[in-house]
Amino acid sequence: MTAAPAASLQTIEVALTTHPYPVVIGNGALQQLGDWIRERGFKPGTKVLVVTNPVVHGHYGEAALGSLAAVGLDASALVIEAGEDQKTPATVARIHDAAFERRLERGSLIVALGGGVVGDMAGFAAATWLRGIAVVQVPTTLLAMVDAAIGGKTGVNHPGGKNLIGAFHQPRLVLIDPATLATLPEREFRAGMAEVIKYGVIGDPELFSRLETAGPISTQASVGPALLQALLERSAAAKAKVVAADEREGGLRAILNYGHTLGHVVETLCGYGTWLHGEAVAIGMAAAGEIALAMGLWTAGEQQRQLALIEAAGLPHRWPDLDQDAVLTCLQGDKKVRDGSVRFVLPTAIGQVEIRSDVTAATIATALARRAD
Ligand code: NAD
Ligand code: GLY
Repeated sequence: MTAAPAASLQTIEVALTTHPYPVVIGNGALQQLGDWIRERGFKPGTKVLVVTNPVVHGHYGEAALGSLAAVGLDASALVIEAGEDQKTPATVARIHDAAFERRLERGSLIVALGGGVVGDMAGFAAATWLRGIAVVQVPTTLLAMVDAAIGGKTGVNHPGGKNLIGAFHQPRLVLIDPATLATLPEREFRAGMAEVIKYGVIGDPELFSRLETAGPISTQASVGPALLQALLERSAAAKAKVVAADEREGGLRAILNYGHTLGHVVETLCGYGTWLHGEAVAIGMAAAGEIALAMGLWTAGEQQRQLALIEAAGLPHRWPDLDQDAVLTCLQGDKKVRDGSVRFVLPTAIGQVEIRSDVTAATIATALARRAD
């Protein structure tokens, strides 16, 4: 391996026993993409397929491809359509077609340059092409930086539910350049804050308090560069720790699904694209907090603190008008169902959650009614 590129970037290790990898964070990291890939052992001449979408390609395609070419990697781009409704097997087939046309081999590499949609699909294409080739994640949304790009979950949606088709496929490297957030629409930035709040509730009360005292956190300008770098590092460290302890979600990793069980219901029943993933997670966290309150797991004061922080991030927390039976049916189709019962991640304090399989349909109905407009 060559030496690590010189720069003032933070590196957090995802300490998996068989395939550890670094998460590199810092302004200017994108310009060093090629160096970091070389540092991971890829030789000059290696074929690299950069999968991205039109918007991200327009902003950052040239910088990424230039950095790869500068160190002798044989890189080309594939631009796929953006949007959750494009996260389908058909789009993954397009990536496979490009892999075939460009003769990607076992030693080749796919780089995912974009948000979670690009990352999940490019990761899944890499997991399945030639039974698995390497992938590097270069997230360009806050949500993908703090969550989607780290941890190896890849996949696409099925009409019956989110992410039902997929594979675990860890990246060789995650490279986060906060400067790329400069062009991210504010609504997308807020959606990412939902996952940051999630880390606070599931295990980082200090992060939660820091966000509480920061005032409005709904735009990049209000968050500011220092807090942004800190929350990227803390979120990546939190995710890395959980993934290293439980790579394939045998137990602990399920806590990362806080807010997602009911959030996925919102996404599925309202139609993919109505709510952004992070917005649905915010609604899901508020609903899970209400269930926890109904079950006496945490206090009204704690639920209020959670709602206030969701609001400070400019995120929704009201439960939409959805048919109860459809909600329950959708919950049964969720990946988190085990032996027929839905497993909820429920808060017991700010910074602490529990996994429960004993939430009754009546409790769900009452809690969701309380969260309704
Ligand atoms: P996204 O990928 O749809 O990106 C949001 C939008 O932002 C897109 O329109 C994109 O073109 C645009 N965009 C991206 N980067 C930009 C930039 N720097 N400047 C301007 N525009 C930019 O959405 P997302 O929130 O990043 O990801 C959501 C997806 O991630 C969902 O499909 C969700 O299921 C998945 N996810 C996966 C995991 C995981 O562990 N694999 C975790 C959380 C979420
Ligand atoms: N976003 C949930 C997980 O990665 O496990």
